[in-house]
This record gives sequence, structure tokens and C-alpha cells, in this order.
Amino acid sequence: SDEIEWWEYDDAAEMADAVAGDIGFIIESAIDARGAAVIALAGGKTPVPVYEKLAATKLDWKRVTIIPTDERIVPLGDALSNVTMIGKTFLPKGARVIPIVPKATDDYKAAGRSADALMQDLHWPLDLCLLGVGSDGHTASIFPGPDYDEALNGPRERRALGVMPDPLPPEAPVARVTLSREGIVTARALMIAVTGAAKKKVIEQAIAKGAGSPWPIGRVLADAELPVDIHWAP
Ligand code: 6PG
Repeated sequence: SDEIEWWEYDDAAEMADAVAGDIGFIIESAIDARGAAVIALAGGKTPVPVYEKLAATKLDWKRVTIIPTDERIVPLGDALSNVTMIGKTFLPKGARVIPIVPKATDDYKAAGRSADALMQDLHWPLDLCLLGVGSDGHTASIFPGPDYDEALNGPRERRALGVMPDPLPPEAPVARVTLSREGIVTARALMIAVTGAAKKKVIEQAIAKGAGSPWPIGRVLADAELPVDIHWAP
């Protein structure tokens, strides 16, 4: 996208308020326009306060479908499971939260194919894709390296795939399923929420390098078809 807008806050709590408000507005607009909202939410730690604020918003939650932007291939309920973290917050509101990896398996490629098949049934483009960014420039579970190419240069109709990051990230050393390029860059609204100086620097460098960026977040930002809002707090 050639329209990247930075929104900066004094602290993470202020960012959570603002991002939750923006997501609530996007959900309401999707429901008004199409009778339903389908959104992809990032895993990890940064968005947790956003989800708590969002869940407190009065919305027609039964018309909201939520998928994780990516999932670690672990049993549901595992501390590493993104859909479990997201489900804890939004299932009680009556939203539909879809596990894109229904069961743990060693065959992460097969898990990716089944997630892709599952996602074909959702209405696309997504109304929102909220992404985080890792300090290595990964986003969703598109990590720098060979998986990057398959996730970002694969067949355009592929919406999800299984990846085995190399090296495995220390905080979650497991195989993953991730949204691919198609699922992310075609979203009607693409939002990033990050904290800390290191990640801000990675994103600024990625933007500077554009589509040739060595970091997945750089390719995603370059390929995004609509404006991107980047929310940042120290
Ligand atoms: C995941 C996320 C991942 C996350 C980044 C940042 O499964 O871990 O989807 O892409 O957004 O790793 O994670 P933190 O917000 O925890 O730093």
C-alpha cells in the first residue's frame, strides 16, 4: 500500500482504547453493509489489552466471526494456542471463533491444507486483519526465510498454509498455520498494533525497503491493497 498511517500513543493502554474503538467501528460497518463481520485477529501478547477493551464494546456479536491470523499447532486449550486466547475473550460474547487448526498434528503441511479448505468457506475479503510484528520482522506466522516465499509468493488462491519456522521462535517453538498473502493483503482494513522501539525500527526499515524487504512485514505493507494503519506505543 502507498498509504501507511502511523498512530502513536503515550502507552499501551491508550493504544488499546483507540484500536479497540477502530475495530468496533469496522465490525459495526461490516454488519450494516453485509449483515456480518469476518475478522482475523493476531495472537501473541500485544493485542490482549485490545481484545479486553473490544469485548466490552456493545456490538451484535452473534454476527461476528473471528479467526486467528495464525495458529501454533498445539492442542486447543494449550497455553500457546492463539484461538484459545481469543476464544476466552469473545466466545462468552456470542461471537463465532473458528479454530483454524482443529487438532495438533505433526504433519504441519496437512494442517495448512485443512486450514486453507476451512477458510474457503468464509466470505472473503476479510473485513479486518489485525497483525502483530515480531522483532525479526515476522507477521502472522510468516517468518523470514523459505516459508516467507511460499506464504507470500504462493498461488494467489491459497489463503492459509502450514509453516515450520527456522529457527523456531523461542517463545513458541512449534510449527504453525498462517494466513498467506491472499488472506492478509486483500483485507478491507489492515491494522498493525505493536509496542516498543525495536519493532518500530523494524517496520520503518521494512517500509523503506518496500517489496524487496527481507522482512515479511515489509512485503505485506508493500502489497497491501488498501491503506494500512500502524498503531504504536512505547
Ligand atoms: C503469534 C502471532 C505473531 C505475533 C508476533 C508478536 O502467533 O505469535 O500471531 O505474529 O503477532 O509474534 O507477538 P507479541 O505481540 O507477543 O510480541
